[in-house]
Amino acid sequence: MTTPMLEIRDLHVRIEEREILKGVNLVVPKGEVHAIMGRNGSGKSTLSYVLAGKDDYEITSGEVLLDGQNILEMEPSERAVAGLFLAFQYPIEIPGVATMTFLKAALNATRKAKGEGEISTPDFMRAVKEAGASLNIDSTMLKRALNVGFSGGEKKRAEILQMALLKPKMCVLDETDSGLDIDALQVVSKGVNALRDGTRSMLVITHYQRLLNHIVPDVVHVFSDGKVVESGTKELALELEAKGYAGFDGEKAA
Ligand SMILES: Nc1ncnc2c1ncn2[C@@H]1O[C@H](COP(=O)(O)OP(=O)(O)O)[C@@H](O)[C@H]1O
Ligand SMILES: [Mg+2]
Repeated sequence: MTTPMLEIRDLHVRIEEREILKGVNLVVPKGEVHAIMGRNGSGKSTLSYVLAGKDDYEITSGEVLLDGQNILEMEPSERAVAGLFLAFQYPIEIPGVATMTFLKAALNATRKAKGEGEISTPDFMRAVKEAGASLNIDSTMLKRALNVGFSGGEKKRAEILQMALLKPKMCVLDETDSGLDIDALQVVSKGVNALRDGTRSMLVITHYQRLLNHIVPDVVHVFSDGKVVESGTKELALELEAKGYAGFDGEKAA
């Protein structure tokens, strides 16, 4: 068997003495797009933060392998260099740093870590313009401080732009649809779909089925109370939408 892009083995995580992730097992093969669906509070964002390497989380057991490499001991920046990219449910605002400046610094940091030289300004401008056009991101938005005063849709589009520039091999998108109206959802989904190339893998986390009409996953996992409780084809998302989460985990709606 070829090495999966992402493999999570029996991951247990605590926050402030409380166990939030209770044995997550998940395998995303290379080139596949998997969705995680689960009710609010089931631990989806916790999983994405743990993958990103945010501190405050106590990993009590388990492994996370990115293309065969254990990433749990790595710094967040090392994970990024290894090809992991996270788009957060609540993107961080960086006052005083223009979006353009941030993007260039992020790109150069990964290039440097790989032993490549800095990208030239004309090459960078060309790349941003090209990637930005399909995401309806113009130069005015790029001059504004990253995420400061951005609408929900602008924040998500800026993240997808970052993803398009960094070309990660594993993308994790947490609630990319939250705060988006239908037009913005289409723009963001188009941007994400453009990055599907048969080798890059994605994990799309959502609690609504509607995002999966736009970003059609190869596999859907149902997440409940800190672990994956069922996996299936994209039809599983429709079944979930019809039955509600209670039909899967026996719990009442929160
Ligand atoms: N920093 C934190 N401190 C304490 N509890 C937290 C923290 N972050 C998340 N939790 C708790 O962990 C559980 C899972 O939250 P989260 O991962 O955000 O779920 P989801 O993204 O599925 O809605 C919730 O009960 C939440 O209150
Ligand atoms: Mg969440």
